[in-house]
Amino acid sequence: MTTPIRIGLIQGSIREERFNDTIADWAARRLEGQGFSLRRIDPRDPDLLPLQTGDAAAAARLRERLSGLDGFVVVTPEYNHAAPGPLKTLIDAASAEWQARPVGLISYGGISGGLRASETLRPVFAELHAMTLRDTVSFAMPFDRFGEDGEMTSAEETARADAAMATFGASLAWWAGALRVARERRPYEKRAA
Ligand SMILES: Cc1cc2nc3c(=O)[nH]c(=O)nc-3n(C[C@H](O)[C@H](O)[C@H](O)COP(=O)(O)O)c2cc1C
Repeated sequence: MTTPIRIGLIQGSIREERFNDTIADWAARRLEGQGFSLRRIDPRDPDLLPLQTGDAAAAARLRERLSGLDGFVVVTPEYNHAAPGPLKTLIDAASAEWQARPVGLISYGGISGGLRASETLRPVFAELHAMTLRDTVSFAMPFDRFGEDGEMTSAEETARADAAMATFGASLAWWAGALRVARERRPYEKRAA
């Protein structure tokens, strides 16, 4: 594989004071360290925020930013056992851009680590012909576990998260590389149900 694998890193919260930036920045450092080329997709970006109310120009800008990527990583919190509404709206605003691509799920929240939010995204991406990775990375009650430098203060927790991220990155690289080759050899054909 000559060109680096291009991944869209999608932030799952538009809340003011969101914790999402801490987890997304942490994940971005790991993914770049693993050799992925990243494009950040932030639903709170003023160019994208209006898609939350159905603005067609904002949706077109989103689709442009999602295009030409080999896969995606979604960083989601958990709200009432599900992924947040604004993240779902962002996902719904695109279609072909997701097809035949892997989606990795990174979550955070209370003691569940946001895993229930991740699980709610699997059927959504299946409907969009995308492939969610089996392996996830999750952070339970992470809110006071990160220092000023954006890293976890506990060496033990850092080692655990790094190990999960290594497995996640290896799986993402395999699927993104394999599906890139597959799409080049034979364009993906969406079939009706
Ligand atoms: C309305 C609401 C519902 C929530 N529901 C859950 C939940 O079901 N499970 C959980 O683990 N955390 C839950 N939380 C905690 C959030 O995951 C936590 O506040 C997180 O920081 C939100 O992400 P953000 O700061 O990036 O917006 C909830 C928070 C809010 C505001």
